[in-house]
Amino acid sequence: MTTPHIVGFCGNSWRPAKSRALVEAVGAGLRERHGVAVDIMDLVDAGPGIAAFTRDTLGDAARGVVEAIERADGLVIGTPVFQGSYPGLFKHVFDLIEVGALRNRPVLLTAVGGGLRHSLVVEHQLRPLFGFFEACTISTAIYASAAEMTDGEPLPPAIAGRIANAVDQFAAHLAGRRADAA
Ligand SMILES: Cc1cc2nc3c(=O)[nH]c(=O)nc-3n(C[C@H](O)[C@H](O)[C@H](O)COP(=O)(O)O)c2cc1C
Repeated sequence: MTTPHIVGFCGNSWRPAKSRALVEAVGAGLRERHGVAVDIMDLVDAGPGIAAFTRDTLGDAARGVVEAIERADGLVIGTPVFQGSYPGLFKHVFDLIEVGALRNRPVLLTAVGGGLRHSLVVEHQLRPLFGFFEACTISTAIYASAAEMTDGEPLPPAIAGRIANAVDQFAAHLAGRRADAA
């Protein structure tokens, strides 16, 4: 059986970014607990060529990111909170994704905001977006405030616990899909 291709995509448009660091923490959890590797990319990788009106006019780097998301067996999604939601360019990436490409794919949701006020962005903004695609969003979503993510410090136990639970759910879903396909 081939190795699953799991893509982490984060809506940060600068680095370092705490939202990307949270996706990296989830990737580390998947690798350590389940031996699953995650190929992480973000809006910085897509570059300014992502701001195209149509797929045909995307820059090469941006097209590479869009196609990697479409080909993925599962996604780890991250975003910084902007104005109570995800950034417009993050949504633009998904406006370019083929409808049907993400159907039944496991999708693990994460977000980082400046505070805790918008912690339900994962439930009220991200989850419906992937519902549109008929993806299988993982029940446990992960939100952190910027203050909870200090460089070089371990994540607070509550967030580390949610990551462990979410990656276990993600891996179980992935294994189930692969067993069905075999
Ligand atoms: C344009 C903009 C809008 C933002 N809006 C919100 C918001 O509505 N709610 C919130 O909690 N944080 C908001 N933030 C804060 C960012 O979510 C937060 O600083 C970021 O996730 C931390 O990651 P960083 O390491 O990339 O700075 C906003 C930041 C910017 C730049």
